[in-house]
Amino acid sequence: MCGIVGYIGKKNSASKFVLSGLQSLEYRGYDSAGIALLSKKPQVIKQVGRVEGLANQVTDEKADSHIGIGHTRWATHGSPTMLNAHPHYNTDQTVFVVHNGIIENYQELRERLVSEGYSFVSETDTEVVPHLIDFYLRKHKNFFTAFGLAIKDLEGAYAIAAIYDKEPETIYVARLSSPLVIGVGKDEHFIASDATALMDRTKKVIYLDDYEIAAITSDNVSVHNIKEAVEVKRAAEELDYDHEKAELGDYPHFMLKEIHEAPQTIQAAIRGRVRADTNTIKLGGLEAVSQQLKYIDRIVIVACGTSFYAGLVGEYLIEEIAGIPVEVQLASEFKYRKEPFSRSTALIAISQSGETADTIAAIKKVENYGVLTLGVVNAVGSTIARITDAGVYCHAGHEQSVASTKAFIAQVTVLTEIALHLSEGRTPLYKPVLQELLELPDKAKQVLENAPEIEKLAKKYSSYRDFLYLGRNYAYPCALEGSLKLKELSYIHAEGYAAGEMKHGPLAMIDKDFPTFAIACDSELMEKTISNIQEIKARKGPVLAIATEGNKKVSQHADDVIYVPSTLEQLQPLLVCIVLQLFAYYVAVEKGYNVDRPRNLAKSVTVE
Ligand code: AGP
Ligand code: GLU
Repeated sequence: MCGIVGYIGKKNSASKFVLSGLQSLEYRGYDSAGIALLSKKPQVIKQVGRVEGLANQVTDEKADSHIGIGHTRWATHGSPTMLNAHPHYNTDQTVFVVHNGIIENYQELRERLVSEGYSFVSETDTEVVPHLIDFYLRKHKNFFTAFGLAIKDLEGAYAIAAIYDKEPETIYVARLSSPLVIGVGKDEHFIASDATALMDRTKKVIYLDDYEIAAITSDNVSVHNIKEAVEVKRAAEELDYDHEKAELGDYPHFMLKEIHEAPQTIQAAIRGRVRADTNTIKLGGLEAVSQQLKYIDRIVIVACGTSFYAGLVGEYLIEEIAGIPVEVQLASEFKYRKEPFSRSTALIAISQSGETADTIAAIKKVENYGVLTLGVVNAVGSTIARITDAGVYCHAGHEQSVASTKAFIAQVTVLTEIALHLSEGRTPLYKPVLQELLELPDKAKQVLENAPEIEKLAKKYSSYRDFLYLGRNYAYPCALEGSLKLKELSYIHAEGYAAGEMKHGPLAMIDKDFPTFAIACDSELMEKTISNIQEIKARKGPVLAIATEGNKKVSQHADDVIYVPSTLEQLQPLLVCIVLQLFAYYVAVEKGYNVDRPRNLAKSVTVE
């Protein structure tokens, strides 16, 4: 959640970087935004809502500074108001703080500080931080010491940046279980919650680890571990990352642009990995652990949201193609489960952002068991990419829209490759799946050509209040993902179900006002799904279906049918999900909602 940025350098242009950094991090939270600069006197500018507009308030160039911090909030404690917006500061207005995460013991700290005479103006957990620093500063006089002592008192998850009026040459930062990256420039340093905000300026970065704090000046970064009380030497690393600028082009929304990137996304995920001439799969990211992989007899996949549903597709793929039992668990549940674990189990963590707090916690849980951890991650250099033993990048490029679309497509493509890799060619499915994967970019293009038809149907169905999504086998996780897309974008109540489960309860909801989106592409189980469609029709439920081009049966029962090109059942999710994404997109547009920034959500969920 939330984005933090900061700048310290020799030029008087902190606001420029901080504001542009906030723009690029806005997908992380957009309840309010704020910036603190230290010019002749400290300036704090805040506003409720989007970053847009904040820039208009930093108009006086003389007021700009060589040092500044900024924040775009996703509220956890206290509603999105001016008083709750960051930066927060002490009563003297000398210490300014931005924070990403949750301070779990803030009540206790707040009471302690109130008993010391401090008063609070916001409802946030964050506000304890500047007061706590102030408290220690009065005792120790040295800001870095005071900052370290204050940070040591905090429990929970945080990435924090602070500036101090009396030391305008330094930004202080701290991190525990929340992302923070330091960009190294010439006579300047940048800080940001994720590297994409820095890429315009530098590819040289320093990552902080948990319990580390740093004092950053324009030409130096000194890192200290507060748990072990030692100095840490940390060299900068070069990010191998091609940053394409987030530009809409001719698209009205990033979501539509990203859905239309599906063909390139599949292509990017197979490029250099799938070889048609030799029928081989080469996953460079798994080479270092190839020996360990030979002894794996169980896989646990952990993820959240859309990545979890990609994991469910992965479960069907790996079990069918590689013959290894797979269990997919919600990271937020997995991390507290007391299940037994053996060393022959591998954990696959799937994450677009690579920063999801629950998924990180799930990986950390198994570290002590000696379990092999693998990442299927999109964001290069993110925490999950760095803490897993090995992994395969998704290469979907930066995803701007809060709703995950092309990342899902990339995750499923990569999971197909992992399934093929793990099978070591021992399954009759190996060659057909591998060959067909190469056809998928073209087939995805054909699905996209059908967008006007999907838009028409989305308009037709947009006024319903509820929706049921049904599918069997590979289409079941698609039903779950399709219903999530509709919920998060159009706020319509939607449920995803395995079609076979329908009679065990959900059927009770069906009437003429409760439509069903049935995924009924050609497969062994298609007839069974058609029977389910008939059961719904018998109860007057409207049915919209997805079927394979050339299929004549589904249209005999469903009210409307969207066709996708024929492909192997194992690869149908890659095509079906494009339809479901477009449908949810057009429904939300029809209802007039902000598709790229749905209410109450943030793209990167860095708190529990
Ligand atoms: C889906 O559209 C997202 N809003 C959300 O469910 C997301 O997939 C989830 O938070 C996981 O994020 P991650 O892939 O970055 O870990
Ligand atoms: N917990 C803090 C707040 O509610 C920070 C939330 C965030 O990460 O944006 O203000």
